[in-house]
Formats: sequence, C-alpha cells, structure tokens
Amino acid sequence: MNYIKTLIFAMLLCLQSAMAKGDGVTIEHLGVSNTLVRVNTDCRYILLPCEEANDDARINILVGGKIQETIYVRLAKSKTDYMVPFDLTPYAGKTVIMDVVTPQGRGSIREAKNDVCWRGITASNEFDTTNREKYRPAYHHTPAYGWMNDPNGMFYRDGVWHLYYQYNPYGSKWQNMTWGHSTTTDLVNWKHEPIAIRPDGIGSIFSGSCVVDHNNTSGFGKNSVIAMYTSAGTSQMQSIAHSHDGGKTFQIYEGNPVLTQDSEARDPKVFHFNEETGEWNMVLAHALEHEMQFFASKDLKEWRLLSSFGKGIGAQDGVWECPDVFELPIEGTNETRWVLLCNLNPGGIFEGSATQYFTGVWDGKTFTADTNAEGKIDTKWLDWGKDHYATVSWSDGPDGRRSVIGWMSNWQYAAEVPTMQFRSANTLPRDMSLFRGDDGQVYAICAPSPELLKMRGKASKRDSRSTVGKSVKKYELPTENDGVCEIVMTVDPRNADKVVLALTNDAGDRVEMDIDAEKNIFSMDRTKSGLVNFSEQFAAKTWAPTFGKGEVELRIYIDRSSIEVFGNGGRFVMTNLVFPNKPYTHIELNAEGGSARVSDVNIYPL
Ligand code: FRU
Repeated sequence: MNYIKTLIFAMLLCLQSAMAKGDGVTIEHLGVSNTLVRVNTDCRYILLPCEEANDDARINILVGGKIQETIYVRLAKSKTDYMVPFDLTPYAGKTVIMDVVTPQGRGSIREAKNDVCWRGITASNEFDTTNREKYRPAYHHTPAYGWMNDPNGMFYRDGVWHLYYQYNPYGSKWQNMTWGHSTTTDLVNWKHEPIAIRPDGIGSIFSGSCVVDHNNTSGFGKNSVIAMYTSAGTSQMQSIAHSHDGGKTFQIYEGNPVLTQDSEARDPKVFHFNEETGEWNMVLAHALEHEMQFFASKDLKEWRLLSSFGKGIGAQDGVWECPDVFELPIEGTNETRWVLLCNLNPGGIFEGSATQYFTGVWDGKTFTADTNAEGKIDTKWLDWGKDHYATVSWSDGPDGRRSVIGWMSNWQYAAEVPTMQFRSANTLPRDMSLFRGDDGQVYAICAPSPELLKMRGKASKRDSRSTVGKSVKKYELPTENDGVCEIVMTVDPRNADKVVLALTNDAGDRVEMDIDAEKNIFSMDRTKSGLVNFSEQFAAKTWAPTFGKGEVELRIYIDRSSIEVFGNGGRFVMTNLVFPNKPYTHIELNAEGGSARVSDVNIYPL
C-alpha cells in the first residue's frame, strides 16, 4: 500500500515539474525563476507569449549542451499581449533547450508555474503577421512585427535601395539589437527581407553603415558589401561583416572587433573612398564626449584616427550618435559644401531626440565647420518636429543623389506609443541639397524624394485661388484608405497676422498649424491631435523658420499616425507623430488680423 502511495506521489511530482504539451514542447520548472523548455519538433517556429509590462526573461538557447545564442523576451506573466516567433530553422533536426530565467522572483514553483506564458508556448509552422494595428502607416516603412529604431547600413545598388535597421525580433520594445533588412526599388513599396546580422558572442549589433567594396580593398572579394557596425557587449567596439549575395546575408569577420577604445563610441559610418590616398574615411560617434571622430583605413579592417570634431560645439545636451558626412551642391551656384549630420539625444530642439547638422569643409583629414557673421558655429536642425531621429544617407545613391531617411520617433516615448504588434516607422525618404539663406549661411534642403510623386492618386480637391479671412474655409480630405493624403498649397500670409490651417475630425481631434506672417514661423500644435496621454512628453507644439518672407509653399503628407510638412521645397521640414481617435477628415483654413491668399490647392489621396 505504502509502495503504491509513494508511486502515485512520485508520478504527481513528475507531472508537476515536467509538462509535455503534446507538440514536441516539454516544460520543466526547476526553480522559482528557472524553467527549461525542451523543444523537439519539426515545426519552423516556437511561439512565445509576451506581456509588454513585464520585464525581460533571459533565455539561453542550448543545443547539445552548448549555448548557441541568448535572447531576452518579456514572457507573459498575467496576460498575453502578443506572440513572437523564435525561428528553429538553424537548429532543424536537433533538440533545442530554452533555459529560461524569468525576472520575477516567486514564492514557490507552484506560483511560478501559473505564469500564462507556459500554457501559451507552442510549436507552429506559421506566424501570423497580418496587420492588427489601426495606426500602422499606409506608406511609410515599418517592420512587420517587433521593435525598430535607427536606419542602418543603407546602400543603393543595381536599382535596389537597401535599408537595414535596429531591430528587436522578439518584442515591441528595445532589446536584442539585430539588423533587420528591407528593400525597395521605388522608395515607396518596401519588401521585408530576412534578418541580415544577428548578435554574436561579442555583443548585439548596434548601428552602422555599408559600402560596396568595388575594388576589393578589404580582400573579401570585388563588389562584396561590407557592413561596419558597433558590437555592443560589455563595451562598445567596432566590427565588420561581409556579404557576397548583394547584402542579403552577411558573414561576421573572424578578426572582430576591428576598432576598440576605452570610451563609448558607436555607429561607424564609412562615408568616403579617397581615390588619391586609396583610403576609406569613417566617422564614429564618441558619444559621451559629444564629438565625432574621423578615421582612415586602406582595408576597412585597420583604422587610424585622423581627427575629432565637436567638443563644445553645437547642441551638447545629450549623447552624440549616428553621424554621417557627405558633400552637396549649393543650389544656384557652382559651390559645394560638406555636411556633417550629428544626431543627439536628448537635447533636441523640442526635447528628446533630434538631428543637428553642420556645414563646412572636409579636407581628407579634418572637418571644419562654417561660422556665422560673428564667427560662431550655429546649431542647425535638419527637421523641426519631434519625431525625426538617427537620420543617415544611402551610399552610392543613383545620379549623385543624396537621399536620407530617419527613424520617425523620439526616445522620450518611442516605447509607449499606442501600437503593440510593431513599434516605429521610418520617415519618408528625402533628397538633400543646400541653399544659401538671407543671412549668408548655408542650410540644408530636405525635399520629398521624387519617387513619392507616384503615390498620388487623382486630386480629390483642387482650388486654384481663394482668399481666406476670419471665417473658416473647409476642404474635405479623401475618405478612402483612412484619409491618407498629400495636401499641396501655397499660402501668402503677408496681409494677415497669422494664417491657421487645422486638421480636424468629428471626434474633436485638431492639429493646428499656424503661419506667423511677421516672424516667418510655421508651427504645429499636436496637444489636441488625438491620443496624447500615453506619455507626458508627447503633447507638444513645434515651430520652424520658414526661410522665406512671402508665400509659403506647403506639401503636407498625412499618414495614419504621422504628419510631415515640407515647406518651401524642403527648406524647412517638420515631422510629428499623431494618433487621432478617427482619421482627420478636413483641413480648415482661416486668417487672423487680415486676409490671406491661398493658391494651387491640390489634395491627393495616396
Ligand atoms: C541611436 C542609438 C545608437 C545605437 C542604437 C542602439 O538611437 O542609441 O547610438 O547604435 O541606437 O539601438
């Protein structure tokens, strides 16, 4: 009798600690925060339930007793917000053990077993990426699922624009930094490609750049694509990887890291090949020193420090990150100027993240910034909104074009925005050039890339000329596709104090844009734009100089959760996220203190 009792007790214990789920997944709870998930399946994925509000669990992926990789996942404790897939393809035919350490300390194993994730872990051949988000942009690049921040490694080759990006494939908050990859042939339609570079033993894969090694300077082969990025482990080091299939897959270089120093440095951008010296130039953010460092190398492996730029210059109230350097023509002249992009976080013009830039001269060794009439170096902003960061350019752009793209968010609240399946989009691609302002200084032009014109449907509203005064003139926005559209108009504010352009809907949401005729300032107020309370730092009003004194030409791109204003051909740009309760249905115009002429109004559905 005693024997049978013991047997039953032993069987119950066994049942308690190892739970076979019937799909090749067995779960064994070993301690209050340690669980083994044994996976023995032919399925492609193991799906992991996530809960946004929970902290990350650390999961060591073991095969044959060896750690293959470590991932961090917000495994669900009390409810499942979404699932993420772990791809078993590299381990096909093998038993995979996920050694999970959950963040929450538990009173007992029994308690730990109640976490909802254990019941939800499943093997599957499918992972559903069908969009579930009402705020997913219609025409901006987004990852199918998971978290995205900076654009990385962009290069153009054989008609294809490559965009890599800081990606977390295991959740919609920052973690597990990996290079995701998308491509486009028209800067409008994006194709998601397989992940390009995954974390290795040196660290996760932070931001960086790619070049096509046309002359095989690196010895990896003619026309191989070389990625240079930051390996973020205990320290930040620079590493390279090479691709022999045009940037689809990369092999990590065995001699990594290729550049180390005893301070935080990241986001290498290989920006130039100097034909005279046969050397590559690279710029690196010396983040906490608030400066950019310039390096040279003959083979992309051995780097020599040339100079530094930035100590005490420009906006300094945040870390310097994601640099880029390129030469551009000044419109209407035969002159050129070099531009140094310097992303900064926090300390941006409207707080949080932003892109400042310097114009000047790169002589092959040193960058010298232009000064203003008083001999000082001004801080210049590339975009006058709150949601424009980590902007860098495509290398080898066609026809000498310098096209750039940014991350359309802000570190202040990027992880809180009201989406779940994915987080963050990129800005629209922009083509850059320069102009000389009335003050004699050189400024950036960021115009919508010309390919974007092809998104336009037949204009739903046209108005060649109107005058607006006190009473409100309303133009309807398209109704199809949640009203995503491009609004084009020219406003002459000179006979008024202020012209008001407001996006509205019947839910009471309102985005007010003003042109101040006297100060020549364009502003946008999103404090009543829709959902704003998810972060105290979201509600804001941003403003920009119009860089003109008369008419203001506007192209306003509205997507499901963003507004991008390109003014005066891209002389000022403003990018702001918005989360309206319902799509905006009208743009309402009126003038205060006089009247304003509005001409060439065209509203294009996109
Ligand atoms: C900028 C940044 C980079 C870094 C990356 C990490 O947003 O902090 O400096 O490489 O994000 O994801």
